[in-house]
Amino acid sequence: MEFKELKSIIENKFKAVGSSSELKEFSSKYLGKKGEIRKIFSDLGNLSIEEKKKLGQELNAFTDQIEKAVTELENEFKKAQRATNKVIINTELPGDVPEAGNIHPLTIVRREMESIFELMGFSVLEGPEIEDQWHNFDSLNIPEGHPARDALSLGKTYYLENGNVLRSQTSSAQTRFMKKMKPPIKIIIPGKVYRYEKTDASHEINFYQLEGLYVDENVSVANLKGVVQRFLREFFKKDVVIRLRPSYFPFTEPSFEVDMKCTVCDGVGCSTCKKIGWVEILGCGMVHPNVIKNGGLDPEIWKGFAFGLSIDRPTMMKYKINDIRLFHSGNLKFLKQF
Ligand code: DAH
Repeated sequence: MEFKELKSIIENKFKAVGSSSELKEFSSKYLGKKGEIRKIFSDLGNLSIEEKKKLGQELNAFTDQIEKAVTELENEFKKAQRATNKVIINTELPGDVPEAGNIHPLTIVRREMESIFELMGFSVLEGPEIEDQWHNFDSLNIPEGHPARDALSLGKTYYLENGNVLRSQTSSAQTRFMKKMKPPIKIIIPGKVYRYEKTDASHEINFYQLEGLYVDENVSVANLKGVVQRFLREFFKKDVVIRLRPSYFPFTEPSFEVDMKCTVCDGVGCSTCKKIGWVEILGCGMVHPNVIKNGGLDPEIWKGFAFGLSIDRPTMMKYKINDIRLFHSGNLKFLKQF
């Protein structure tokens, strides 16, 4: 091929190069050791010395020129690449917080309750949700055939095929931890409980309880009342008025129901307290000697108090939630408020 012809082909090809990979291809085709320009150099042998000299100079000049152009274009491609990689930060634009989930109201309240009891020296423990019948009933002084096994909503228990149950009360953890720990035992056990019942605005098959247990040599009803009072005052952030009403639980003797003067109407009567002026807040009592015995401790030496409260009900009171079923509804409109 004539040099002139090749020169114009190379110049046109170079103009058509549009990317760095095309440029690489171009370089190796025309400039490499086996490239087209080299081929013409090796053909110089056929020419006269004069012509050789002239063509050689032209070839060298052209090669230099093309090589220089290639390097320039290469740099241009690199620069363009760097510019597209660069992130442009405009600090004048408004901020944007990445969306995050919220903490469930029951979790907020459980944590709050835990920290109040922790300040009074209680440790937070967790018992199993799948429980054997001995811990859920028998060890709590509720043997088979005992009317209390059907009362207290305990007849509404979920039984598993292997005879275990989904615990119907966190009280089931009481004897578990008595057997494991040495007194003084000062613990709370928050957790989920299960009851097979019809659901409505104030009943769920699945709700949370918080169990309290204090076992020591000298424990009295006064201690129980003091702890409950302090807890409620811290939780509702006001001086709540409480009353201990005699009640019955198989695992405590004596047993009480604690009522709190309604914080919404101050005892006058409203929809929260169902016009009674008082709100039932928890069950409690002095641990029955049989339960202390079932926990592997000597009831002659060790006394205790226990209490159990729902976490759902105070959460509803605190946030004015009127339907317990909202907690497990997965309704984002509801959940995003907390
Ligand atoms: N376990 C009872 C219930 O589910 C609540 C309760 C009452 C727990 C009295 C206690 C207690 O520890 O002393 O209704």
